[in-house]
Amino acid sequence: MVSSEVLDRVQPVYARLRHAIPPLEWPVFAEDVDAILRLKRERDAVILAHNYQTPEIFHGVADIVGDSLALAREAARTDARVIVLAGVHFMAETAKLLNPDRTVLIPDPAAGCSLADSITPADMRLLRARYPGVPIVTYVNTSAAVKAESDICCTSGNARRVVESLGVARVLMVPDEYLARNVAATTDVEVIAWRGHCEVHERFTAAEVAALREDHPGLVVLAHPECPPDVVAVADFAGSTAAMCDYVDAHRPARVVLLTECSMSDNVAARHPDIDFVRPCNLCPHMKRITLANIRAALETMRHPVEIDPDIAVRARRAVERMLAVA
Ligand code: 13P
Ligand code: SF4
Repeated sequence: MVSSEVLDRVQPVYARLRHAIPPLEWPVFAEDVDAILRLKRERDAVILAHNYQTPEIFHGVADIVGDSLALAREAARTDARVIVLAGVHFMAETAKLLNPDRTVLIPDPAAGCSLADSITPADMRLLRARYPGVPIVTYVNTSAAVKAESDICCTSGNARRVVESLGVARVLMVPDEYLARNVAATTDVEVIAWRGHCEVHERFTAAEVAALREDHPGLVVLAHPECPPDVVAVADFAGSTAAMCDYVDAHRPARVVLLTECSMSDNVAARHPDIDFVRPCNLCPHMKRITLANIRAALETMRHPVEIDPDIAVRARRAVERMLAVA
């Protein structure tokens, strides 16, 4: 049973979460939240959380939240001694690349990504041999070893800008086929795609969007660019997870669906209790490996520090920093 002292201490946190977590459930989280807030002070730690983290993490204990681009930028800026990355492994690796001298912890090192698993450094070397002289733009959803083989990274938030920044007629874009094709639809640059897919976003279909529109009159449809191009084509807006949040904040549609991982709707809805969120729920099993319990354990025991081979890190960092230099 959680004590009334703990409940009093974390009451201001619950005020941010009350539209996402019922009062009866809050005591289940309160003790971990209280411990994590204390441990962050003791360890001089910050928690960076991706938009797909569950509300008790996202609104409860995170210091910085955002899409992959924002997390990379903030990781480059923080002066905390310890960074806990509440997200998947490639995000923690990116934070470590940008902070080689700080401790970066991932609460569960098995938090992977179907895109990151779809391409290897050997595949990258084969692509180089097959397309000599064509720059390789690598989505951040990849291992550091794959980034090390690439010319520049991109995220869903800056992919077109990165492609166009290279000033060439043709680029390779790996590993997300749909992101590459969605970018190709918006630029004159020829984009050669790899065949990787996100296991969450590839499940959305244009027929599902049509059915949602029929069932929910006036529905505004926002899609992540990892969705298949025919889904993006029937959406009202496509953008990174941060761009979708910004769209909801700016336009305040009466009824909206976010074609992306389903915790994001919970997080945005917590700020907009007046908006009707239609919620087909596609969960990312990798993101869901991160919990309050393993964030607490990471801070208590300083467990799972991210380490990257120095030779790989030098080359991967160059690709990430080159991306961050693109306005
Ligand atoms: P964002 O960079 O848009 O947050 O996307 C990351 C991701 O993993 C989407 O599935
Ligand atoms: Fe990877 Fe898709 Fe999960 Fe994002 S939602 S981490 S792209 S598997």
